[in-house]
Amino acid sequence: MIDVKNLTYTYMEKTPFEKTALKNISLSVDEGNFLAIAGHTGSGKSTLIQIIAGLIEIKFGSVEVDGEPVKEKSARRNIGIVFQYPEHQLFEETVEKDIAFGPINFGLSESEVAARVDEALKLVGLGVELKNSSPFELSGGQRRRVAIAGILALKPKYLILDEPTAGLDPRARKKILSEIKNLHKLGVTIILVTHSMEDIAALAGRVIVLADGEILFDGAPRKLFAQEEILKRAGLLTPSTAALAKKISRAGFENFPLSLTIDEVEREILKMLGGKSKRA
Ligand SMILES: Nc1ncnc2c1ncn2[C@@H]1O[C@H](COP(=O)(O)OP(=O)(O)OP(=O)(O)O)[C@@H](O)[C@H]1O
Ligand SMILES: [Mg+2]
Repeated sequence: MIDVKNLTYTYMEKTPFEKTALKNISLSVDEGNFLAIAGHTGSGKSTLIQIIAGLIEIKFGSVEVDGEPVKEKSARRNIGIVFQYPEHQLFEETVEKDIAFGPINFGLSESEVAARVDEALKLVGLGVELKNSSPFELSGGQRRRVAIAGILALKPKYLILDEPTAGLDPRARKKILSEIKNLHKLGVTIILVTHSMEDIAALAGRVIVLADGEILFDGAPRKLFAQEEILKRAGLLTPSTAALAKKISRAGFENFPLSLTIDEVEREILKMLGGKSKRA
């Protein structure tokens, strides 16, 4: 479990640029959860996850990973963090060397490192034949997946991703999201920072909404999308699936549930049309 208690964080304290980015945040994330963090730009999302990953030191509050303060190296080892545009941090001359960098630093044996590289490539859906390519010969989506593979090779129990699909084309987005979903199925606890309400609707079991460094909402996505006031205050949009479900409900079908995915909307509409279609 990740346990954050009474966390307050201020950048550039006691300067004219002082900015309190997080105000008295408490939250815990259980093993196996898929948590999304949303909120308008500057609401504190990236600051929060960097603190959770132990990359920013704090004065007020505490962060524990499985009961151990995140200050401890052994606690930090359980957490993998993928920054925004992680491919900008690729620097080795081959894909293999880049992915191997972290495991080598962990002091793993050569054979263990090799096994982890292959496994990580597989997890992100890249073929081992790319191992000897330069990351710079790859497409943007592939580079991003190599960067994610570098983190997965560390086998983190908790995986934090900061807008992992930003700037990618729709196909690359879809691939990365399905790989994250798959990792979650394999038992990795996921914390996903995203601006996409559609992704939250489709993937997350829980969503935390930040606004100006405070938690405005913490609960199930379905509950969030029912609360228009909160969405408005946080500057977020209802995903199109939920918006359609609301429209149908307002049009006189009050029992139409607030559906989160296309499949769910489809199921409900077919039900309304009189049960099974001819083809089903
Ligand atoms: N290194 C820094 N020095 C000073 N202020 C910072 C620094 N990093 C972030 N801030 C400020 O802290 C606040 C929270 O920033 P943060 O990057 O955590 O927001 P965010 O929710 O991740 O935003 P975005 O959606 O744009 O990524 C913002 O007001 C930002 O300007
Ligand atoms: Mg950010």
